[in-house]
Amino acid sequence: MTKKILVLPGDGIGPEIVAEALKVLNRLIATGLDVELEHGLVGGAAYDAEGHPLPPKTLEQARAADAILLGAVGGPQYESLDRPLRPEQGLLGLRAGLNLFSNLRPAILYPQLAEASTLKREVVSGLDIMIVRELTGGIYFGQPRGVRTLENGEKEGFNTLVYRESEIERIGRSAFEIARKRNKRVCSVDKANVLEVTELWRQVMIRVGKDYPDVELSHMYVDNAAMQLVRAPKQFDVMVTTNMFGDILSDAAAMLTGSIGMLPSASLDAAGKGMYEPIHGSAPDIAGRGVANPLATILSVAMMLRYSLGLTEQADRIEAAVGAVLDQGLRTADIAAQGQASVGTAEMGDAVVAALG
Ligand code: IPM
Ligand code: MG
Repeated sequence: MTKKILVLPGDGIGPEIVAEALKVLNRLIATGLDVELEHGLVGGAAYDAEGHPLPPKTLEQARAADAILLGAVGGPQYESLDRPLRPEQGLLGLRAGLNLFSNLRPAILYPQLAEASTLKREVVSGLDIMIVRELTGGIYFGQPRGVRTLENGEKEGFNTLVYRESEIERIGRSAFEIARKRNKRVCSVDKANVLEVTELWRQVMIRVGKDYPDVELSHMYVDNAAMQLVRAPKQFDVMVTTNMFGDILSDAAAMLTGSIGMLPSASLDAAGKGMYEPIHGSAPDIAGRGVANPLATILSVAMMLRYSLGLTEQADRIEAAVGAVLDQGLRTADIAAQGQASVGTAEMGDAVVAALG
């Protein structure tokens, strides 16, 4: 049966980079890929058109789709809106509404880009980490939350970091399953020395780990993990962690690879349905200038084919095409070495399409 993909370009550079990913998808469709594309609104774009960052129609479209391709959301013009109307709520609402609890964020260094990393070549060459971030729980969703006024008139802000055993267990299983297909090592990142909830996290990980005796489980406090990521990142295979720690550590891991503009992500539910997006944001500072790197979004299409549509060969084809354009020396500004000429968003997309053959 024809699979349905919902395309949500969003804001900032979102529409530009998604346009390039669509060139790639359309090329695959022309050569036999059996998918149907539908378009929808999310984030600031949806707020502008419909007055809400996640209109009911978008959520319906997302529920009906087999997979979702998202660009990015957010922009300075929306920062003064009430929190429930801000673009980020569109993204968080999709994650929660579709139960996309397992967020896979690979940090892979393309050998061609070793010089683009701010770290020494020997520290990062061959880097291949998978960060598994819990995505629908923890402090980003916990209740109660808000800002209240105390008796003395002072304001107090508060959020709640809460995890149930079942939530920890299912993200743990995701991580162990993925590790089985890789180097069979999971490092669970917590702050068990201070936070009760992550002490529970650690206990549950140990319990779940018993079902995966072939996978080595280790534990690390998040502050140390941040340090180890920039000191000796190749010690990691799979890292599994909470929503907020994963948000932070995945940005740090991305930079090890030279540019956050290179990294795709998958957010999966229990059945493998997923939303795919670059891990970078909407980059309003460069939006509309045609200079953004479309490769993270193009690689997100590859992840979609691999994880939600089971089309490994087509996924390999896209990843090989990205490797080929890097071999040709094509670089967008974010991955160009100092003094090296760079290409624009569309030129990079066209080159990937050409390399697909
Ligand atoms: C990410 C982003 C989002 C998050 C924002 C835009 C809500 O930073 O996907 O990492 O915090 O999850
Ligand atoms: Mg983030």
